[in-house]
Amino acid sequence: MPFSETARTASLAATRRAAGTARYTALARALHWITVLLILLVATLGIWITFFEPADQAFKLRLYNIHESTGILILVLTAVRLLWRAGHPPPPITPPLPPMLALVAHLNHAALYAVLLTMPIAGFLATNAWGFPLEWYGLFPIPSPIGKDEAIAPILSNIHFGLAIVLGVLLLAHIPAALFHHFVRKDDTLRRML
Ligand code: HEM
Ligand code: HEM
Repeated sequence: MPFSETARTASLAATRRAAGTARYTALARALHWITVLLILLVATLGIWITFFEPADQAFKLRLYNIHESTGILILVLTAVRLLWRAGHPPPPITPPLPPMLALVAHLNHAALYAVLLTMPIAGFLATNAWGFPLEWYGLFPIPSPIGKDEAIAPILSNIHFGLAIVLGVLLLAHIPAALFHHFVRKDDTLRRML
């Protein structure tokens, strides 16, 4: 390798080190990791109330309320996140991804956003259709466009359930992909989100 090229490579690396990895904005990173924690809580409670229903009625209703209120919180945070993202696009990945991989990643993120928006809406409509209006963490009621309707309630619950499976599948791709980028491809994808 000619000397000038070696020097250029070294200087590029030094520049990158000095500049540091271009990360997502602090707000985008905070919203990503807060959402991860909230999803962990909501999914745990969802599985608890569905498959291990507590006998104590008051306790059960409290679990439902925390599940549902936190789901609405995720909906609001996701809306904020998407508005913020419109003005603050993700930083580039170094080294860049092949176009095919970039497309798959993009589709995974778009689908995750779609689920983060539709899942709480389906759950909220289902709850109201079953005849249980939501008091957000017991603080104030959230108005619903639909009231009790036992014909559509099971359909909405099934949509909510189906989306839970979709979310699980998307995360089974998303999380190993983040680790693949970091440990196998050794690019800065994960560091941009930390
Ligand atoms: C991102 C937000 C949410 C996630 C990840 C989530 C996840 C889950 C999961 C994994 C279950 C157990 C599987 C099932 O039975 O469907 C569940 C059940 C349930 N969720 Fe959610 N949920 C979310 C938001 C909401 C919201 C906002 C409400 C209502 C306001 C809600 C109401 C329910 C109800 C009532 C059940 C019991 C089963 C049913 O009747 O559908 N969920 N949820
Ligand atoms: C509930 C779990 C999770 C959800 C719902 C979720 C959702 C998302 C979404 C929607 C994006 C796209 C961000 C954007 O470009 O606007 C994203 C990016 C990212 N997530 Fe997650 N995530 C979750 C868990 C994780 C975990 C556990 C990790 C790490 C092991 C992780 C690592 C990343 C990384 C590195 C990016 C940036 C990807 C890129 O820019 O190409 N995520 N996540």
